[in-house]
Amino acid sequence: MSEVVRIIEMGPRDGLQNERTPIGVAARIAFIEAVVAAGLTTIEVGAFVSPKAIPQMVGSDEVLRGVSRLAGEFHVLVPNLKGYEAARAAGAKVVSVFAAASEGFSRANINCSIAESIERFRPVVARAEADGVRVRGYVSCVLGCPYDGEIKPQAVVDVAKALWDLGCYEISLGDTIGVGTPAKARELLRAVAGAVPIATLAMHFHDTYGQALANLYAGLEEGARTIDAAAGGLGGCPFAPGATGNVATEDVVYMLEGLGVATGIDMTKLVAATNAISDQLGRKPASRVVAALNAKSRRAAN
Ligand code: HMG
Ligand code: MG
Repeated sequence: MSEVVRIIEMGPRDGLQNERTPIGVAARIAFIEAVVAAGLTTIEVGAFVSPKAIPQMVGSDEVLRGVSRLAGEFHVLVPNLKGYEAARAAGAKVVSVFAAASEGFSRANINCSIAESIERFRPVVARAEADGVRVRGYVSCVLGCPYDGEIKPQAVVDVAKALWDLGCYEISLGDTIGVGTPAKARELLRAVAGAVPIATLAMHFHDTYGQALANLYAGLEEGARTIDAAAGGLGGCPFAPGATGNVATEDVVYMLEGLGVATGIDMTKLVAATNAISDQLGRKPASRVVAALNAKSRRAAN
């Protein structure tokens, strides 16, 4: 495999939105600086959502302003026009709307039905188009829902197509609770690729059951070339009980480099970024690659 694979770094948003230890604006900016220094070029840095829903993302305006001097493409989540306006005022050039393939998660996460969410996003996308802002679309719970259980691929196809028809330039498919397995991931990507070009699909797989890398590999074989990942495997959503973090960026980079795909990422610097944020969170990184490299450094130091 020699083609280009894009990695979108989720650490500062998905990675920190569910953490008990609040991470302040300065530390979030320092984390983003560190992942940029490691070579990541597209990073989701915050969310303009209700502070009651996700207090961890308060200050996303300051974060976005604080990183605008850095080279990179910085994304933020917006659930509605209010969020879009705040993001735009802070200089956002790319925003992401987020829908779900299941009614249960849609209601829990953004307090409306799937159909209502699409109507809520319509004016956001129209305004963004007029402002020259690009809009990414998420579909959550593509391989299972904590409320509704099994999700049929067709339900994902319908929502992905609706977001694509609205004008989203890319659709990120979220295995929010990390329950998928490679055969299901493959079936899903085939189904969605029948409605939305595969080149515009991203894979956003949480790693709760340890299947994320295998699922990504199946998706790469299907032709998908964009991966959402979080440094150190941080991540989770308070409305997805039991889910753990995103697939770790380090694990993805290790797999891709092993497949002959150059990522341009400096692993040593990325591991340093992960270790620094993990120390602040007071926990060990979930990434197997980080654990292995940290153990190797300790052995070398002794
Ligand atoms: P609601 O209560 O129905 O909204 O929430 P509302 O319009 O009735 O407003 C209620 C209050 O929120 C009002 O304030 C609004 O001003 C305020 P009050 O009068 O009570 O003081 N409000 C806002 N404040 C700041 N920014 C805004 C905003 N909108 C309203 N944009 C709403 C609906 C969508 C706002 C809420 O449910 C919400 O913010 N949800 C966000 C949940 C979230 O961020 N979840 C995590 C991200 S999604 C995810 O992690 C999945 C993903 O990673 C992919 C995957 O893994 O599958 C992307
Ligand atoms: Mg997520």
